[in-house]
Amino acid sequence: MDQSSAKFIVDGNAYDLPVITGTEGEKGVDISKLRAQSNYVTFDQGFGNTSNCLSSITFLDGEQGVLRYRGYPIEQLAERSSFLETAYLLIYGELPNAEQLRSFSEAFTENSMIHEDMKNLFNGYPSTAHPMAILASMVCSLEAYYPDIDTMNPNPEEFDQIAAQLMSKIRTIAAFAYKKSIGEPFVYPRHDLEYVPNFLNMMFSSPTRAYKIYDEVVKAVKVLLILHADHEQNCSTSTVRLVGSAQSNLFASISSGICALWGPLHGGANEAVIDMLEAIHKGGGDVDHCLERAKDKTNPFRLMGVGHRVYKSYDPRAKIIKECAHDLLAKLGIHDPLLDIAMRLEEKVLKDSYFVDRNLYPNVDFYSGIIYKAVGIPRNMFTVMFAIGRMPGWIAHWREMKDSPGTRIGRPRQIYVGPHKRDYVPINKR
Ligand code: SDX
Repeated sequence: MDQSSAKFIVDGNAYDLPVITGTEGEKGVDISKLRAQSNYVTFDQGFGNTSNCLSSITFLDGEQGVLRYRGYPIEQLAERSSFLETAYLLIYGELPNAEQLRSFSEAFTENSMIHEDMKNLFNGYPSTAHPMAILASMVCSLEAYYPDIDTMNPNPEEFDQIAAQLMSKIRTIAAFAYKKSIGEPFVYPRHDLEYVPNFLNMMFSSPTRAYKIYDEVVKAVKVLLILHADHEQNCSTSTVRLVGSAQSNLFASISSGICALWGPLHGGANEAVIDMLEAIHKGGGDVDHCLERAKDKTNPFRLMGVGHRVYKSYDPRAKIIKECAHDLLAKLGIHDPLLDIAMRLEEKVLKDSYFVDRNLYPNVDFYSGIIYKAVGIPRNMFTVMFAIGRMPGWIAHWREMKDSPGTRIGRPRQIYVGPHKRDYVPINKR
C-alpha cells in the first residue's frame, strides 16, 4: 500500500483517499470508504477504470502489449512450457518441480473420466445443441457427483482434487459433446496419452478409425491453450470471482464463467471471426465492404477478432497465434483462403485511420480459428477450446479470491434514474 493519497473534493469537503501502487507501478485510488465518508459512489459502466481486486496471477500492459503469467512472459511459456506446467504455475504461483508436475499430471489421469451416470445427461440434448450449453451445464452438474467434498470452502487437498477434476474432465466433456453432435460413440480418455493428445484422440478417433497424432498439431493446440490460460479480470474471470464471492461452489462458479465466455464479444469471437471470413470468401473476397460495414455507425456489425478493452496495441497473443497458424498450415500442406483474407483484412485495419485512431488491433481471436479449422475442430467448438484453455485461469482466480482476506460478496452500487415515488393506481383508473 502506497503512503501517498488522492484528494477527493466535493460539496466543499475534501477527502483523502489512499493510493495503491502495483508491482509494475500501476496506480489505483482506494475508494472502499468513499460512500461512508462522502455519501458519493463512483460511476464506471463496464468497469473500464475500476479494479475489483489485488491479484498476483497475471500482469498485462495494454499499451505496451505485455502479458505475463506469475511474472513469466507468455512468449517464453508458449515456446518452452507445457499446458499442464503453465496451469500449475497459474494455480499455485510457481513453476512445478519434476515431482510436483508428475503428481499434477497423475491427478489428471486419475480424474479424466466422468461418472457413467453423466452420460445420461448427454442423451437429453438434441444433436444440434451448442457444445457451450452442454459444457456449462455439465460442469455445474459435476458438483452433484462429489457430495463428500466441501466444494464451497474446500481444504487444500479438496481444492487440489477439484482443480484436477475440472482441468481433466472439461476435455472429456468437450470431446463427448462433439461426439454427441456427430452421432459417434464416446471415446474414453486414455491413461497413456498426455493432455492434448488425449483430447485430440477423444475427439477424432472412433471404434473404426484410428487417429494419427501429429506433433505439429499437438504443439499448435498446446500453444493455443497456454495463450488462452489467463487474462486477468476479463468478463468471464470477473464472473467466476463474483459468483465465487457468494460462496458458490467452484463448479458453479466455473460454469458461470463458461456462460460469460460464450458471448460473441468475448470468447465467442473466434467462432464469429471464421463466420466473418467465410462470408467475405463467399462474397468474392471483398474485404473493403466488410471494413466499411464495421466503420458504419448505423450498422451494428463489428469487425470480429479486432479491438480490445485493454490492449491498445497489437495483442501479443495474436502475434504468436498468427505465426503458429502459418507454421501449422505449411507443415500440414494446407492452403486456407481464409488465412489470406485474414491477413489482407489485418493489413488494411493497421492502415485505416478509423481503426488506428481507436487503437483497434487484431486480438487473440483473430487467427485462432484458422488453427482450430486446420486441426479439424468444428466451428461451434472454438469457444469450447477457449474454455479448456481458460480453465486454469478461472481456477487460479477463484482460489485467490477465496484466500484473499479482503474478499467480501461482490455487490456493486448503481445510480437510480427511474421514477420518483408514486402511488398505486387501480387498473380501472389507468
Ligand atoms: C476477448 O477482456 C479480455 O481480456 C478478453 C479476452 C480474454 O483473453 O479474456 O482478451 C478475450 O474477449 C477478446 C475480444 C474478442 N471480441 C471481439 O473480437 C469482438 C469485436 N471487438 C469489439 O466488440 C470490441 O473491441 C470489444 C468488445 C472487444 C471491446 O469493446 P470496448 O472496450 O467496449 O470498446 P468500445 O465499444 O468502447 O469501442 C471503442 C470504439 C467505438 O467507436 P466510437 O464510439 O469511439 O466511435 O471502437 C469501436 C467502437 O464502435 N470499436 C469497433 C470495434 N471494436 C471497437 N468498431 C468496429 N469493429 C470493432 N471490432
